[in-house]
Amino acid sequence: MSQTLPMLGRSRRNRQGPAWRSLVRETTLSPSDLILPLFVCAGEGQRQPVEAMPGVVRASIDEVCAQAAVAWDLGIPAVALFPVIPDALKDPLASEASNPDGLLPDCVRALRRQLPDLVVITDVAMDPYSSDGHDGVVVDGCIDNDATLPILARMAVMQASAGAQMVAPSDMMDGRVGHIRRALDEAGYHQVGIISYCAKYASAFYGPFRQALDSQPRSGDKKTYQMDPANVREASRELAQDVAEGADVVMVKPGLPYLDVIARLRAETDLPVAAYHVSGEYAMLHAAASKGWLDYESCLLESLLCLRRAGADMIFTYGACDAARLLKSARR
Ligand code: PBG
Repeated sequence: MSQTLPMLGRSRRNRQGPAWRSLVRETTLSPSDLILPLFVCAGEGQRQPVEAMPGVVRASIDEVCAQAAVAWDLGIPAVALFPVIPDALKDPLASEASNPDGLLPDCVRALRRQLPDLVVITDVAMDPYSSDGHDGVVVDGCIDNDATLPILARMAVMQASAGAQMVAPSDMMDGRVGHIRRALDEAGYHQVGIISYCAKYASAFYGPFRQALDSQPRSGDKKTYQMDPANVREASRELAQDVAEGADVVMVKPGLPYLDVIARLRAETDLPVAAYHVSGEYAMLHAAASKGWLDYESCLLESLLCLRRAGADMIFTYGACDAARLLKSARR
């Protein structure tokens, strides 16, 4: 049947076939956009599975190096390290966090030796080392912001001295970016950058990560320092502070439930924006896929592409190697 009115615009013309779609695509996703988080534990030849994160392990330094080499060969430019610290080494002031001979700096040195071009990002926060499981010093049941700042600064300088090229404060204390920047500069680490967890929300999606590191808060929750999921204007204030204090990259975390926050930071700053596709987001994909309810591979690539579309320049994701392999293999 012929139509009576001419239809001038036909959106489907630009959706014909993978070759044409690739020309009109607005957003790209490449292995070079991805950062692989890795959990490092003591020992040798260790690969302990993390139950809620299929494919993710707590690995000893030799195995972390092996995983990083695979990632590097797939075109992934950076890894982010998170240490698993035994209870015996945890204390209220997270003293182990600035031990220059600790597990984390050993791992940084090993990676820098074996893969000198790989970017090594270290996490600056007390929680894996704290007997309270918090990102700040607990005094009389409250988090003492300013008592935490020198601890974070010492930790960052120690990580830089081990060879970390980027330090990533994930603690959400006020003033920490400036404090860390000054400490790094005073120690001569002008070239070491700061990826600030700028808009980090008090999210239930961090559950599997806390299981992996056994880093749950021993009392209370993180709502007095991590942001309220209800707020987005507040992210702009966090951004202004972090930019003024010298952040080199600003991050939004978690990822998919916070696309509006990513878009907002993207619009408000010219700095690179990072997104963290967190442990719970990764766990959900695998859980649904294991039941045959979702296709893990397509949903992973779609999630990461959407984070890019919202404005993320780089994405921390446990699925980085899976995504990189898929991106290499197919025209989509
Ligand atoms: C801790 C930290 C957390 C994550 C990264 N750094 C957990 C938390 O704040 O309790 C979560 C990452 C993830 O869930 O993948 N400073």
